[in-house]
Amino acid sequence: MRRIWTAPKRTTPDVGPHAAAGLWLWITICLVARVAAATAPTALDVSPILSDRDVVAFTPRGTDRLIREGNDGPWSTFPIMVGSPAQDTRVLISTASTSTWVVAVQGCQGSDIPSNCSTTRGSLFNISTSTSWQDNGPWGLNIESNLGANYAADEGQFGWDTVGLGFQGSGGPTLNHTVVAGLQTMDYYIGMLGLNPRPTNFSDFNHPQPSYLSLLYENSKIPSLSYSYTAGAQYRLNKVLGSLTLGGYDDSMFAHNSITFPFYYDQSRDLTVGLKSITGSGGESLLPNGILTLIDTTVSQIWLPREACTAFESTFGLVYDETTELYLVNDTQHATLQKQNTSLTFTLVPTLADTVGVNITFPYAAFDLEVSYPLVNTTQRYFPLHRADNDTQYTLGRVFLQEAYLTVDYGRSNFSVSQRTWELNAPKHTVDILPQNATDSGNGNGTGTATVTAKPQKTSIGAIVGGIIAGIAAIAALAFGIWFFLRHRRRVSEEQKAAELAQAIERAAQQEQKHKAALAAGNADANDFGISRNPDAATYKHELDTPGEKTPEMYGSNHYGNVEMSAEELMAELAAREESTVGRFELEAPHELAELSGEDRRRMDCEGLHSQQQQRNARRNINTPASTGTPRPFSWQQE
Ligand SMILES: *[C@@H]1O[C@H](CO)[C@@H](O)[C@H](O)[C@H]1NC(C)=O
Ligand SMILES: *[C@@H]1O[C@H](CO)[C@@H](O)[C@H](O)[C@H]1NC(C)=O
Ligand SMILES: *[C@@H]1O[C@H](CO)[C@@H](O)[C@H](O)[C@H]1NC(C)=O
Ligand SMILES: *[C@@H]1O[C@H](CO)[C@@H](O)[C@H](O)[C@H]1NC(C)=O
Ligand SMILES: *[C@@H]1O[C@H](CO)[C@@H](O)[C@H](O)[C@H]1NC(C)=O
Ligand SMILES: *[C@@H]1O[C@H](CO)[C@@H](O)[C@H](O)[C@H]1NC(C)=O
Ligand SMILES: *[C@@H]1O[C@H](CO)[C@@H](O)[C@H](O)[C@H]1NC(C)=O
Ligand SMILES: *[C@@H]1O[C@H](CO)[C@@H](O)[C@H](O)[C@H]1NC(C)=O
Ligand SMILES: *[C@@H]1O[C@H](CO)[C@@H](O)[C@H](O)[C@H]1NC(C)=O
Ligand SMILES: *[C@@H]1O[C@H](CO)[C@@H](O)[C@H](O)[C@H]1NC(C)=O
Ligand SMILES: *[C@@H]1O[C@H](CO)[C@@H](O)[C@H](O)[C@H]1NC(C)=O
Ligand SMILES: *[C@@H]1O[C@H](CO)[C@@H](O)[C@H](O)[C@H]1NC(C)=O
Repeated sequence: MRRIWTAPKRTTPDVGPHAAAGLWLWITICLVARVAAATAPTALDVSPILSDRDVVAFTPRGTDRLIREGNDGPWSTFPIMVGSPAQDTRVLISTASTSTWVVAVQGCQGSDIPSNCSTTRGSLFNISTSTSWQDNGPWGLNIESNLGANYAADEGQFGWDTVGLGFQGSGGPTLNHTVVAGLQTMDYYIGMLGLNPRPTNFSDFNHPQPSYLSLLYENSKIPSLSYSYTAGAQYRLNKVLGSLTLGGYDDSMFAHNSITFPFYYDQSRDLTVGLKSITGSGGESLLPNGILTLIDTTVSQIWLPREACTAFESTFGLVYDETTELYLVNDTQHATLQKQNTSLTFTLVPTLADTVGVNITFPYAAFDLEVSYPLVNTTQRYFPLHRADNDTQYTLGRVFLQEAYLTVDYGRSNFSVSQRTWELNAPKHTVDILPQNATDSGNGNGTGTATVTAKPQKTSIGAIVGGIIAGIAAIAALAFGIWFFLRHRRRVSEEQKAAELAQAIERAAQQEQKHKAALAAGNADANDFGISRNPDAATYKHELDTPGEKTPEMYGSNHYGNVEMSAEELMAELAAREESTVGRFELEAPHELAELSGEDRRRMDCEGLHSQQQQRNARRNINTPASTGTPRPFSWQQE
């Protein structure tokens, strides 16, 4: 029998930055594989539209429900099939998660669970019926732990299983043995397709586990390690659905701009942008100071500093509900807001020092959302703004992707954000993002074998930065050594220097004599000089020193070899950001990590949630439809 929700292990899969080395190795391997591949794959379009069969099987009002899934907004879900035989389920898109999350049957068990729980949570995954499930036990989800204690405590039943894109028969690509988490928590009401290609490192497992996007790329199903996503906007045109393109982008969906955002130095927050201002259509300034904020579609709301929330409160007449921590909107207030019809313009910049940015404008309708069980007891309107306790919580959630089009290129470590355009029946124009040439992005070829070195997790950023600094120091030391040697040789030709050398040699010879004498006397102290038994070596004192100085280099190449590949990325970030001194950067990096992995976040008491989750452990019999689905390779056709 396989384990299902046994006593929580409370360990956390480490997707920390030192897994970056693995990713780089991965990319390198993939690039080599790509060069070898005869046929080039094209970008995959993942359509949120369900097949007829599922619309019928779903609810009588199936079509309407499809564009309005989720308990905190009308979100477009994407169909995937999980397990063998394949079970159809629907998920949202997470730019932060590195694995696929599906709501497990345990997620709808317990008292006070509505009877339509399974339907509203995107259809459940029954781990027990999947013959290809390989269990790895419960692990912390380890994403969004900066957003409060609830998120930090969330965990899933992890394992490996087959995951295919689209519904059965739709011909989407299917991959075996991918990391899947079965969710029980209510904090994520619907499952997630994780698009972050960082590998997942389970601490009881030697090798980092590749992400779904990496596997698609490695299997030549997509042309590059990249994706584009927009969440859809049910208030636009004929209720516009979301769009996900893997390995490319859809040119017909957005207004081009010239701004490219480099990845943030902290890999777990790579999609960080500068938010320079938020301006209302009446000229109101809603963001007193520019902030750095993460684009993260795992959560719905926009998390802003308290001053900004205050400005929103006065502009929109919002009232904060302390119980639910939401800006609930009653009917009267809703009518007023609709009449005001204030639109907001968010100005994004690569760094806060930049003056030229991208404007993304939102009509009020983008914030006119509803929230329902389990966040509130009865469905209500709310404004999707959340108070952030501090700068680690600043987030542009899925709401932001209603009017924005996000393209992320992991090969080039950059991304772009563009204003979504709305044209009825615009013809699709999917453009592939090609990988960089192997020589460009491989960059540190031949250094890939040092990935798996045991390092303390908490200091990994520090270790990497340390490694970089050690590497720089080693290069500097080596350069100095060479320079010194050449200079030394030049000077040897000079008489005075020759005399010096003669003296040095004489000294060394004396030392050598002493050494030999000591050796002859069998005096163990001889080794305390730290010189080798080769007497000639003693004459080249500097060369003796150099190995000592070179030690960091040896250390660096042995232990941080491919970390230095990501070092390149980090160094680029160093140049790009305001922090210009290496010293300060080094100090900040571990600090940032500690914030992210800290366990002592508190936001609200989560006692009720926990005990409720534990109560649900008893099994119930619900039949989920399942049929045989043989994996269909290649050529995913949308619609
Ligand atoms: C689910 O059930 C609740 C009440 O039990 C109801 O309010 C809600 O509208 C239902 N949701 C759907 C999608 O049918
Ligand atoms: C995936 O698993 C199925 C069934 O176990 C098998 O038939 C298929 O060949 C596997 N595909 C790959 C690419 O390994
Ligand atoms: C609706 O909310 C506004 C503020 O958000 C409040 O002033 C008003 O009294 C509320 N109206 C009702 C009927 O609750
Ligand atoms: C609100 O303003 C937008 C433009 O910002 C406009 O397209 C829309 O029709 C307006 N809605 C209402 C209800 O007036
Ligand atoms: C972006 O919006 C801001 C504020 O509304 C405005 O000052 C600026 O000119 C806009 N920039 C562009 C390029 O439209
Ligand atoms: C829902 O109702 C229950 C019981 O009536 C109450 O204890 C709980 O606080 C309510 N939840 C919310 C979010 O209002
Ligand atoms: C990434 O950078 C390259 C070259 O600098 C640029 O051509 C490309 O458009 C950028 N990609 C994105 C998604 O911004
Ligand atoms: C990649 O390599 C090809 C052929 O070697 C070359 O034509 C092309 O310009 C290269 N592209 C880049 C981005 O270097
Ligand atoms: C790295 O790649 C270059 C160009 O392909 C090659 O000349 C060089 O030998 C490679 N270095 C190592 C260490 O493999
Ligand atoms: C994975 O995590 C374990 C435990 O934290 C660690 O010992 C191991 O080095 C890590 N592996 C990689 C490749 O990062
Ligand atoms: C940010 O706020 C959270 C929740 O209040 C807190 O746990 C965390 O320590 C804070 N982080 C920093 C760096 O202040
Ligand atoms: C899950 O699958 C097991 C084994 O087939 C079955 O006994 C159980 O009833 C199923 N659970 C649900 C909720 O469908």
